Amino acid sequence: EKDVLILAIESSCDETAAAVVKNGREVLSNIISSQIALHTLYGGVVPEIASRKHIEKINQVIQEALDTAKVTLDDITAVGVTYGPGLVGALLVGVAEAKAISYARKLPLVGVHHIEGHISANYIENKDLEPPFLCLVVSGGHTHLVKAADYGVYEILGRTRDDAAGEAFDKVARAIGLGYPGGPKIEKAAREGNAEAISFPKAKISDSIYDFSFSGVKSSVLNYINNCKMKEIPIVQADIAASFQKAVIDVLIEHAMKAVEETGIKKFAIAGGVASNGTLREGMRAACEKRGVAFYHPSPVLCTDNAAMIGTAAYYEYLAGTRHGLDLNAVPNLKL
Ligand code: KG4
Ligand code: ZN
Repeated sequence: EKDVLILAIESSCDETAAAVVKNGREVLSNIISSQIALHTLYGGVVPEIASRKHIEKINQVIQEALDTAKVTLDDITAVGVTYGPGLVGALLVGVAEAKAISYARKLPLVGVHHIEGHISANYIENKDLEPPFLCLVVSGGHTHLVKAADYGVYEILGRTRDDAAGEAFDKVARAIGLGYPGGPKIEKAAREGNAEAISFPKAKISDSIYDFSFSGVKSSVLNYINNCKMKEIPIVQADIAASFQKAVIDVLIEHAMKAVEETGIKKFAIAGGVASNGTLREGMRAACEKRGVAFYHPSPVLCTDNAAMIGTAAYYEYLAGTRHGLDLNAVPNLKL
């Protein structure tokens, strides 16, 4: 059997990324050009700047991915690319690039759903992981509790009704003066704080056991800060960070374990930027161990946006026969 080499491209938000992935799970290169420093100035991702930066960087990032993998386009079997969800202008850069390469080199084109990419990141370092498994996808744009029934077959059990988990981290970090990106800064501050110091509410949705809501926790942090200011009580960043982080993580673990109990599936994975949070990882690991459930998580570089995960997802889509034409378009609100 001939090796299948996927050239994968990811540009849905603020990372310009390209990777070469062999036979689905062997990452030959994983190049990420982050724009975080650029957007920090504005306290968040500025879509127009993201698109322009992607255009500047993409050819260079792809060349570096090929060079690092020690291959040329002649060795590539197919091109995989994220076509949604994400920022439309940002997505378009990757999609146009992938279509150009596919057309020029007569290579099959495989469009990938960004969340399928995040979930597939778990395959890279866990060579034995096969569906079915449960996966909690927690990123800046998404909070989905998903049943990965088979390769390419997903059932969404629960999702956020308002803010994504990562978005809540980012907003709270801004409110307490930690800056952007909030997730890693909250995690770091929380290590010095007391998670029992302030009791923030764990938002519950009454009509669903799996759905999430994080806007309430975020608002109560803002109220707490305003109240401190009014009463001239000192604002202890570390305690707020630790208490907020606990309120979010407790709910994520609670819903995840409900899904484990209801479905009887004995494999649980986490994915997305927030999955790089050590406190979430350790809490989830302990909860899984207690129930005899195998726990999987990607290493931090494969949790946040990258193209290796898109290459892995594209490989399984390629095997299943997924092919896109040159009419492939960016779909900002693409459904899983
Ligand atoms: O997956 P990702 O890179 O991009 C999206 O698809 O959204 O996720 C980025 C999100 C940001 O909201 C960031 O604050 C959060 O992941 N994040 C974290 C941590 N590292 C990144 N949240 C909590 N703890 C972390 N260590
Ligand atoms: Zn992402």
